[in-house]
Amino acid sequence: MTDLTATAIAHPNIAFIKYWGDQDPKIHLPANGSISMVMDCLGTKTSVTFDPDFVTDLLTINDKAASQKSLVRVQRFLQIIRDMANWQMYARVVSENNFPMGTGIASSASAFAALSLAATKAIGLGLSESELSRLARHGSGSACRSIPSGFVEWTAGEDDNTSFACSIAPPNHWELMDLVVVINKEHKKVGSVEGHRLAATSPFQKTRVHGSPQRLDTCRQALLTKDFEKFADIVEFDSNLMHAVMMTSHPALFFWEPASLELIKQIPYWRKKGLPVCYTLDAGPNVHVITLSQFAEEIKERISSIPDILNVLCAKPGLGARLSDRLTFC
Ligand code: PMV
Repeated sequence: MTDLTATAIAHPNIAFIKYWGDQDPKIHLPANGSISMVMDCLGTKTSVTFDPDFVTDLLTINDKAASQKSLVRVQRFLQIIRDMANWQMYARVVSENNFPMGTGIASSASAFAALSLAATKAIGLGLSESELSRLARHGSGSACRSIPSGFVEWTAGEDDNTSFACSIAPPNHWELMDLVVVINKEHKKVGSVEGHRLAATSPFQKTRVHGSPQRLDTCRQALLTKDFEKFADIVEFDSNLMHAVMMTSHPALFFWEPASLELIKQIPYWRKKGLPVCYTLDAGPNVHVITLSQFAEEIKERISSIPDILNVLCAKPGLGARLSDRLTFC
């Protein structure tokens, strides 16, 4: 018997091959597969307590009552778990992040990964890693990639049962470092739910999706063989493809700020001069600068010369979602 409470932590992840657009938006069944790295050092800690006396679900994020929009999203997600387990009670969810939310660092990924694990454990539902990954996908697509450890591939699949993420290499496989260049901490105006819907309105989305199996193969192979040149080339190409789709959607989505573009222009030049470094951007202006850990200090110095940078967060490959009440900081 459980005491109806559990606490879990999970990290965000950065996609090297991106998920953008759905086959079925209701269950976040993606248009294409994706590959990512779990970002250690940044995290979400979530405690879930079910109580027979609660008359509704409650949600606190970073010590404040959550917005109605976030609450409704979490309530819908908890209902999926209640339906799975034939469970009647409501829950109190208390969540804490150590990084800014909604700015292109996947806070919804770590949030729904931690919530999936904490909520299912609290009611004694023992799910396998792939079952947890499938469940987390219902909260936010990319959350399924924050359940396994290290370097992770999400197979798009054909239906709810076949769409989940697995680890393709452990965290210690390759000493990559993600230097997250924070350019804007404002909550983004267009969320990814709306963005995925708009993807199909771009004439380039079909081409992007059609080429995704080949890009997945190239990226997986570059990761497994630690071939940085090949890796850098495919990661930047895939990010540019996704942003080309975003910019040609109706309405068009532009996430870059001038400082984002300055980095996009500088980084391939730094690479040409011999530094192992590349960029990738999610649905926000912040630039994820990927390098090898021994070059991190030199790259950070170069980044600091770019105007309008707020700060730089560092993340190395991390573990998947786990039961813990300690938010790990590096
Ligand atoms: O999981 P969502 O709905 O937040 O979508 C994530 C979309 C991107 O971050 C832009 C790409 C990705 O694969 O993480």
